[in-house]
Amino acid sequence: MLQISIYGGSGYAGGELLRILLGHPQVTIKEVTSRAYAGRFIHAAHPNLRQVSELKFIHPDELTECDVLFVALPNKVSMTLMPELKKKAQKIIDLGADFRLRDPAQFEDWYHTKHALPSMMSEFVYGIAELHRSAIQKASYIACGGCEATVSILSLYPLVKHGLIQNNIIIDAKMGSSQAGLSPTLSSHHPERSGVVRSYMPTGHRHTAEILQELSSHLLLDPSDKPQDDKPLDIAISATAIDMVRGILVTIHTTPREGLTEKDVWKAYRTEYGAEPFIRIVKERTGIYRYPEPKLLQGTNYCDIGFEMDTRSNRLVVIGAIDNLVKGTAGQAVQAMNIMCGFTETTGLEFIGLHPI
Ligand SMILES: NC(=O)c1ccc[n+]([C@@H]2O[C@H](COP(=O)([O-])OP(=O)(O)OC[C@H]3O[C@@H](n4cnc5c(N)ncnc54)[C@H](OP(=O)(O)O)[C@@H]3O)[C@@H](O)[C@H]2O)c1
Repeated sequence: MLQISIYGGSGYAGGELLRILLGHPQVTIKEVTSRAYAGRFIHAAHPNLRQVSELKFIHPDELTECDVLFVALPNKVSMTLMPELKKKAQKIIDLGADFRLRDPAQFEDWYHTKHALPSMMSEFVYGIAELHRSAIQKASYIACGGCEATVSILSLYPLVKHGLIQNNIIIDAKMGSSQAGLSPTLSSHHPERSGVVRSYMPTGHRHTAEILQELSSHLLLDPSDKPQDDKPLDIAISATAIDMVRGILVTIHTTPREGLTEKDVWKAYRTEYGAEPFIRIVKERTGIYRYPEPKLLQGTNYCDIGFEMDTRSNRLVVIGAIDNLVKGTAGQAVQAMNIMCGFTETTGLEFIGLHPI
């Protein structure tokens, strides 16, 4: 049995890690930290875990060594602690943003702060298994993708890799409230949040940086639309907060390569994802669930992807959905751990979702 610990276990991502890992047959959870809940049972923060485990939170200062350490801290915290955390475990999986980008200048540009440990950024492998499986296998340090970035990257990767679209991509993202974590703000206060369709980041979403980084390395756009060297991809995100707790839906507008057919698109998705356990292409002719729907993915590690060609406006519209707390973070982290530790990749992630829900 592998001994794992969670640094920052009282938050939403930490709670989801606990839910998944408590049911994982090849690991035991050694320690879980929280400053606010130190000494209390984990169900004090995560009531769904009542009577599932006798585990109690410890203060971060009490953390001892383990085999794999999951880090689920707010952005810009783990980069200050990483030298100490490296002494606790040989394998670290960070769910935050601090080690996702390889270029310190990009981090500074998007996060408006100098990286505290730029020399370590290149030691982390980006955690999306579908793109980096063999690197994850050999890695010691993983940086899981951001939730919005994960669903966008997975939706676009086959199209970019197979050169099916031109260099102008617009991502319209609808986000549930849990993606903001557990600290309340005025905008998350119930009277202000309930019922909203709030355009909160029409431009400038930070996840643009990791989407650019990941897709640029697989770039094979339509050759007639060669990108500039200094700006390899043209991607814009507009994010809207909607009245949903878990889930993200992205609707992505792209311009297809000249002469592109639906068959070409199917072929690219099947080639890249035909053997992927957690990617499903959802494109039905009839029914009410013809395209990806985050509601059906709650608690699952699936990423559902659909598409539609619009010949009138010359667009290929791609639709992607995930549960931000599972494939968007904790599930992605466990999938990476399974690969890194030589377990069957789907272990602990078999939940298939609920209907109706
Ligand atoms: N929520 C999502 O959908 C989502 C999706 C993708 C990625 N992520 C990433 O996952 C990470 C965690 O997100 P979250 O939503 O779980 O956040 P959260 O709900 O705010 O939880 C943060 C956790 O970190 C602990 N913590 C905060 N500051 C700390 C400090 N200075 N030292 C030690 N512990 C500290 C908190 O516990 P105490 O204050 O009690 O110590 C808590 O356990 C973030 O980096 C986020 O970007 C989240």
